[in-house]
Amino acid sequence: MNKKRVLSGMRPTGKLHLGHLVGALSNWVKLQEDYECFFMSADWHALMSEYAKPSVIKESILDNVIDWISCGILPDKSTIFIQSEVKEHLDLFIILSCLAPLGWLERCPTYKEQLKELEEKNLTTYGFLGYPVLQAADILIYKGEFVPVGEDQLPHLELTREISRRFNSLYKKEVLVDPHPILTKFPRLLGLDGRKMSKSYGNCIYLSDVPAAVEKKVMSMITDPKRIKLSDPGHPEICNVHNYYAVFKPELKPDVDKQCRAAEIGCTECKKRLASILIEALSPIQSMRKKLLSDKKQILDIIDKGKDKARLVTQKTLKEVKEAMGLE
Ligand code: TRP
Ligand code: SF4
Repeated sequence: MNKKRVLSGMRPTGKLHLGHLVGALSNWVKLQEDYECFFMSADWHALMSEYAKPSVIKESILDNVIDWISCGILPDKSTIFIQSEVKEHLDLFIILSCLAPLGWLERCPTYKEQLKELEEKNLTTYGFLGYPVLQAADILIYKGEFVPVGEDQLPHLELTREISRRFNSLYKKEVLVDPHPILTKFPRLLGLDGRKMSKSYGNCIYLSDVPAAVEKKVMSMITDPKRIKLSDPGHPEICNVHNYYAVFKPELKPDVDKQCRAAEIGCTECKKRLASILIEALSPIQSMRKKLLSDKKQILDIIDKGKDKARLVTQKTLKEVKEAMGLE
């Protein structure tokens, strides 16, 4: 039986952290079993927000791919590639740019949010407005039926569907396929301070953090603010530390819950235990990472093969697109 196709991407804008592992990678790893997967380092998308300081992109591409593989993405099973090495993404991008109405892009909620949130990056550029059009091209060029993404990306998927329908109806041919999102089922993992885990907030635990760093960061986490003395009963439902247990050691969650409410465990002890759980979870990832870092040639081979595999698909779709338009 032919497997259905999945396409997803991540922007290479820095080191990967636990939020990437829980929010995206663990989902990608599982999907490999049942789908034909394409995983892309979206370096053009990274440039759209990091154009003022693009050096971070080059540094991050291989480092991110190494983390993907260390977390369980299998290069023999899935296609791993770099967006800018597969030229057809840009061909389709320019084609779709011609037919994507400005209003759709200006109204996109993520666009408006990001402009405000990343004000210091000055994203009022021509390129950034087209961010979702490039993402649509990424997806549609693979005829990817499923796209694992976080909830924040749903407007981009909706736009992708609108653009693909517009294409098919303009040229009266069902060339492009509507994609469907696959949302992660994991509870959301927040940063050390309880906000979204993000490099710009400085609240991340990185996949490459050494044990001492993990321990130090965990010990700095904010817990139940109402719990001042050890004898005060805690409220695990509002405690970020407790949420980490739920994600990384769900089988211990009921115990922690009970001990916290009964004031049988102090926050320091609770965090110490969490730190060792995280250190243990990161240990196999980090030893794999170490191995891969010592053999960069192997990684370069993987992305080179990935590019070839990806292009077999993208060249074919681009040809169909141009034929439908009467351009070829
Ligand atoms: N915009 C996505 C993000 O920031 C990254 C991305 C680029 C992507 N192209 C994609 C995700 C195609 C899914 C499919 O997370
Ligand atoms: Fe949070 Fe643990 Fe403290 Fe309870 S004991 S408030 S779960 S850190």
